[in-house]
Amino acid sequence: MDSNAVDPLSFDVSGKHVLITGGTGGIGMAFAQAFADRGSHVVVSDIKPPAEPLRHERMRFEMLDVRDEAAVNALAAKMEKLDVLIHCAGTLVPFKEHQPGVFEKIVDIHLFGNVRLAAAFRPHLKERRGCIINIGSMYSYFGNGRVPAYAAAKTAVMSLTKSLAIAYAEDGIRVNAIAPGWIDTEISKGGQNDEAFNATVMARLPSKRWSPPVELAGTALFLASAASSLVNGVMIPVDGGYVAS
Ligand SMILES: NC(=O)c1ccc[n+]([C@@H]2O[C@H](COP(=O)([O-])OP(=O)(O)OC[C@H]3O[C@@H](n4cnc5c(N)ncnc54)[C@H](O)[C@@H]3O)[C@@H](O)[C@H]2O)c1
Repeated sequence: MDSNAVDPLSFDVSGKHVLITGGTGGIGMAFAQAFADRGSHVVVSDIKPPAEPLRHERMRFEMLDVRDEAAVNALAAKMEKLDVLIHCAGTLVPFKEHQPGVFEKIVDIHLFGNVRLAAAFRPHLKERRGCIINIGSMYSYFGNGRVPAYAAAKTAVMSLTKSLAIAYAEDGIRVNAIAPGWIDTEISKGGQNDEAFNATVMARLPSKRWSPPVELAGTALFLASAASSLVNGVMIPVDGGYVAS
């Protein structure tokens, strides 16, 4: 192997430049810490600042609403380098997403946010043969009457991941996604506290627990590293066996 070749057995992410949307949320912050702890430079972006000061000199915060195309483009113009783009921003509004206005807002964040970010940062990622990691959901695989917009958007994120993987391959950019299972964060509090809903989830879930977001981070590190150089266009469920059951 020549000295410039990528080692397909390397999980190293040190020196990589990483942008995480929804970065002050539960999963986004777990990812930010995992990457920064391993030597990456992480831009944590969100519509709300971090609850606590960022504990790494390699982490910095940028206010960013992924619905705002001009703001996404402005951040892309400001950032010189990017190796890893992780679109983690998200929200849901149980029972209200049947209203068209609410439906549109949810899809705007999860799906169109993805499109805006990918378009704005494609040149950066091309320059460094980087990658995109999208965030799906169990609802990428099946519907849910409480959150129809969220489920539709997450299913579309799976399709978009495949399409971008095909389109961006010519630039040396890989595009993959993670489908988290039942993770203990702000967005899932309503479900965790709803006794009937929680019982339904637990009846099907082999791991029988809501999991901390750090249990997703190893998969993000893998997808961002050379160890996954041949992995492209897939959504990996990290779900304690839920999809399998
Ligand atoms: N927690 C789970 O069980 C679970 C399961 C499957 C998928 N997910 C997905 O994981 C991702 C992260 O969610 P989480 O669990 O960390 O929830 P979270 O609520 O802790 O974090 C979501 C973050 O997104 C930010 N955000 C919302 N709207 C935004 C916007 N317009 N622009 C930028 N940021 C915005 C919020 O401020 C918040 O910090 C989401 O896409 C969510 O759908 C979570």
